[in-house]
Amino acid sequence: MAAEGAQVAVLDLDGESAAAVADEVGGVSFAVDVRDPDAVRAAVDDAAARLGGLDTIFNNAGTGGMARLHEYEPDEFRRVVDVNLHGVWHGIRAAVPHMLAGGGGSIVNTASISGIRPSPGEGPYSAAKAAIVALTQSAALEYGARRIRVNAVAPGAVRSAMTTPLLGLGQWEQIWTDRTPLGRVGDPEDIADVVVFLSSDLARYITGQVLVVDGGMILHGAGIDGVLDYVMQMMEGPAEAPPRG
Ligand SMILES: NC(=O)c1ccc[n+]([C@@H]2O[C@H](COP(=O)([O-])OP(=O)(O)OC[C@H]3O[C@@H](n4cnc5c(N)ncnc54)[C@H](O)[C@@H]3O)[C@@H](O)[C@H]2O)c1
Repeated sequence: MAAEGAQVAVLDLDGESAAAVADEVGGVSFAVDVRDPDAVRAAVDDAAARLGGLDTIFNNAGTGGMARLHEYEPDEFRRVVDVNLHGVWHGIRAAVPHMLAGGGGSIVNTASISGIRPSPGEGPYSAAKAAIVALTQSAALEYGARRIRVNAVAPGAVRSAMTTPLLGLGQWEQIWTDRTPLGRVGDPEDIADVVVFLSSDLARYITGQVLVVDGGMILHGAGIDGVLDYVMQMMEGPAEAPPRG
């Protein structure tokens, strides 16, 4: 977004990383836990005041977990839903008043192919990501007439801090590559470019949509299928064969 000329505010739980990214793009940063609705609103208000308004927000904070449903600790289940789902709502809640005042805007939320086609072991994550799709559609309906477009991206397997441990585990990178018709794991820029497109006037007639950005992975099912068993196997010794779902 900065490369396209936007002035950017970076919000993250990790204030140091947010500040480093903001420095890189000449923006401002805030250390915020997206689970806290008032903290998100205060940061968004502050950012809008300092940057001269708010045209677009990208609600991207997310976190995962890996366990069978009956093995999840209730607090951990709630944490995953809280960050992924409530975090997106808190961003919408904070941004909409500015967009209404400014005559319109664009909201992009990060869902996941796991919310469209869940895999074993991802219960609260998949449920939260599926709910983000419904929330995106609700928001598109509520604010379309006020010229606020609301869309979601659903990434597939993307190289990031979240997936680094998995990509380093046995043959998992090769398994993901094999499951992706475009033949590689995604890079963050693959998602960022689509978010910039959806945020821009090029997407002026698109709202309420979920754009899957996964190199075609979902055509084979879900990329994370079998990971729970694979992680268990790898902890006991190298796996001989790729896991099945
Ligand atoms: N990497 C993938 O393969 C993949 C696939 C599908 C969807 N996603 C989604 O993409 C988004 C970005 O994930 P990523 O892969 O870049 O992982 P990441 O871990 O690199 O980034 C997630 C960011 O969210 C921040 N965050 C976590 N909890 C927070 C909280 N409570 N408040 C504020 N910030 C918080 C983290 O500090 C981190 O900077 C997430 O919503 C994730 O679910 C990722």
